[in-house]
Amino acid sequence: MTDRAKNVINACRAIAAMSEELGRTTRRFLTPPVRQVHDFLRARMEALGMSVTVDAVGNLRGLWIPENATGKRLILGSHIDSVPNAGAFDGVLGVVLALELVKSAQALSLPLAIEVIAFSEEEGVRFGFPFIGSRAVAGRLDPDMLTFKDAEDISIREAIEAFGLDPDAIANAVADDNALGFVEFHIEQGPVLEAEHLSVAAVTSIVGQTRLDLRFIGHANHAGTTPMHLRYDAMAAAAEWISKVEPLAHRTDGLVATVGKVELQPNAGNVIPASVEASLDVRHVHDRVRRKAVDDLVEAAEAIAVRRGLKLESTLKMDESSVPMDERLTAFMTDAIGTAGYPPKLMPSGAGHDSMIMAGRVPTAMLFLRSPGGLSHHPDEAVREEDVEAALLVGEKFLQRLAAEVR
Ligand code: HGY
Ligand code: MN
Ligand code: MN
Repeated sequence: MTDRAKNVINACRAIAAMSEELGRTTRRFLTPPVRQVHDFLRARMEALGMSVTVDAVGNLRGLWIPENATGKRLILGSHIDSVPNAGAFDGVLGVVLALELVKSAQALSLPLAIEVIAFSEEEGVRFGFPFIGSRAVAGRLDPDMLTFKDAEDISIREAIEAFGLDPDAIANAVADDNALGFVEFHIEQGPVLEAEHLSVAAVTSIVGQTRLDLRFIGHANHAGTTPMHLRYDAMAAAAEWISKVEPLAHRTDGLVATVGKVELQPNAGNVIPASVEASLDVRHVHDRVRRKAVDDLVEAAEAIAVRRGLKLESTLKMDESSVPMDERLTAFMTDAIGTAGYPPKLMPSGAGHDSMIMAGRVPTAMLFLRSPGGLSHHPDEAVREEDVEAALLVGEKFLQRLAAEVR
């Protein structure tokens, strides 16, 4: 095996150390470590002879146009932001692999212009609002979306300005919709490929997802002197509601529902909580099933709030429909898997990806790499060298097939 797979993994691990926190990987939208990642990737892009820019929302964009290019460009990439205490490969692997494939395209003298995009924000950790980077490239980032605020009460607009970028130039970030397409290489983040002893798979569709915040608003009061029947306890209400989420998901085939974040005020052991904000993340391959589950859970929260004399605020952060990948590019990818000597596996994605946004702008396809242990959004997230090499071989066959189409 060549060293290139090892180099890809080492690059991802080097980027993982570029973090907001010592000893663990946390890199939210346009926080200081993003500059380090930009510098690291810019050096690699420039070494490949690519022209490099940073757009209005902090996407780092490298462009390779060979002399024999036939005009339309292929876009490759993924995201460089992370969840808190993340692994080293979610997102970043897709950017590093893309640059390795530019090197392959150069060696093969393919007449393909290739743009590699390191999207600035996909997870939605800082503002609870995901896909800022790919929304800008897909032309789906409205100025009114820039008002979402982070825990420090900084808006997306202010975060962009603080990074030295111009939020009024967002329209310039939009990708040509006549691009050949967008292809994202990403770890599966689940157990399927490992269970089937497979290195890679082409993705058929990305499940739809809803993200919202529910705030239960009661009254703070003294924990020692307030009798139980006189309380408006926001935590007791939220806990009653949260206990309904898991059972509903268990009895709805194929549905996943998660309460991943809870913030309460004033957050003191001897004060009855005044308010509790709980996040809700619901996903299903069928939009109708997902939306009914969300409606049922919000109705349950409303009934609990009314019965307990509390107020309820519901803030929708995201509602993305299930997105099919482009049939033609996915067929090319499946053929490339077979040509490269691997079983042509196809599967849906339970995780969200920038591809679900880019698919609204250009034909889009994805290639999954096996996730050892089915683990992701965890510091032990890993990828095998042999699977990185497999992805590169498949990627090269895919590029050659695409190039043959555009000659
Ligand atoms: O949450 C997701 O599905 C992705 O990792 N952002
Ligand atoms: Mn992720
Ligand atoms: Mn990801």
